Amino acid sequence: MRDGHGRRIDYMRISLTDRCNLRCIYCMPAEGIVQVPHDRILRLSEIERLVRIAAQMGVERIRLTGGEPLVRRGVVDLVAAIASTPGIKDVSLTTNGILLPRYAADLKQAGLRRVNISLDTLDAAQYRQVTRGGDITSALAGIESSLEAGFSPVKVNAVAVRSLDQDFWAFARLSVERPLHVRFIEYMPVGDSSGVCGCGWGPEEVVSCEEIRDRINRRALAEGVEGLLPAGGGPEGAGPARYYEFPGAQGTVGFISPLSRHFCGECNRIRVTSMGKIRPCLFSDEEIDVREALRCGSDDAVREVLARAMRMKPGEHGNPNSAHATSTNMNQIGG
Ligand code: GTP
Ligand code: 5AD
Ligand code: SF4
Repeated sequence: MRDGHGRRIDYMRISLTDRCNLRCIYCMPAEGIVQVPHDRILRLSEIERLVRIAAQMGVERIRLTGGEPLVRRGVVDLVAAIASTPGIKDVSLTTNGILLPRYAADLKQAGLRRVNISLDTLDAAQYRQVTRGGDITSALAGIESSLEAGFSPVKVNAVAVRSLDQDFWAFARLSVERPLHVRFIEYMPVGDSSGVCGCGWGPEEVVSCEEIRDRINRRALAEGVEGLLPAGGGPEGAGPARYYEFPGAQGTVGFISPLSRHFCGECNRIRVTSMGKIRPCLFSDEEIDVREALRCGSDDAVREVLARAMRMKPGEHGNPNSAHATSTNMNQIGG
């Protein structure tokens, strides 16, 4: 599939649910989440059909997201169905890791190849604050069980938020002894930026990836160890991260800079929300419904919706630094 700007689109991110077992401050409001009735959520059979048709059109990689995808019942069977769809080469999952000790082995068996786990801090009290009540030991157990299950690569996503004052050095060093790929993500103005989401996005809350890398390298100098060097290929992935590594480390340190380094020119993806809307761009509220076609239409009708989504995809997002780019919260889009 090519979009209207000639970009090859081969990566589809599918949100299985907007529900979550955590309430991260930058992602979801503390309360007041309206429960979406079940019949408005794509059924697993509808997702399987969408994947089959998208694969015929050239989609090769599927990432399952949320909310928290592992709270959706039937996720293991869905992974198995997607992994055996002709044309699909890569099935991956973005999760907060809490339920991985329970599901990692089954997911691996079902054909899931790799996982990205969200963890913003290594401090138990701060984790409780950021996730509004989460237990860091469960998230860390999730990372362990994904390594044990044999997922590769295992990536750890940390959103950098200025007022949290996270210990970037400690995070980056996780990549030294274990095959972990730690990624820092610039805090994006997604969702209600007026503060409903807890810490309220503002430009002053953004820490650029360049600053994070500088701070890590200065600390390396102070500790008398070598700093970060660009990593040759980096771990397998289809996302916008740029990878570095400490010489001799088992893993890497990646940087995702949607604000300081626009990567729209390389964009290769579309997103599907749990309610069956295709979002051609993370930073735009424009959506196109595919649920109706999946429920009542022919394969051609579904193909037509995908083709329209391709034509709708903007060449680049506006300036996300000045205003909030989309009013939809991240748990509804899946990152
Ligand atoms: P792989 O590289 O294949 O492992 O996947 P990924 O990095 O795309 O997946 P992940 O779900 O871990 O995404 C990490 C975060 O990067 C997302 O949640 C977003 O915060 C950011 N991101 C990924 N794709 C885009 C994009 O197209 N636009 C913007 N602005 N941010 C993105
Ligand atoms: N800015 C940047 N990243 C975010 N994520 C969620 N909300 C935001 C935001 N406002 C990240 C999560 C997860 C991924 C799916 O998106 O931490 O790793
Ligand atoms: Fe849940 Fe992930 Fe959003 Fe946190 S970032 S509330 S773990 S969906």
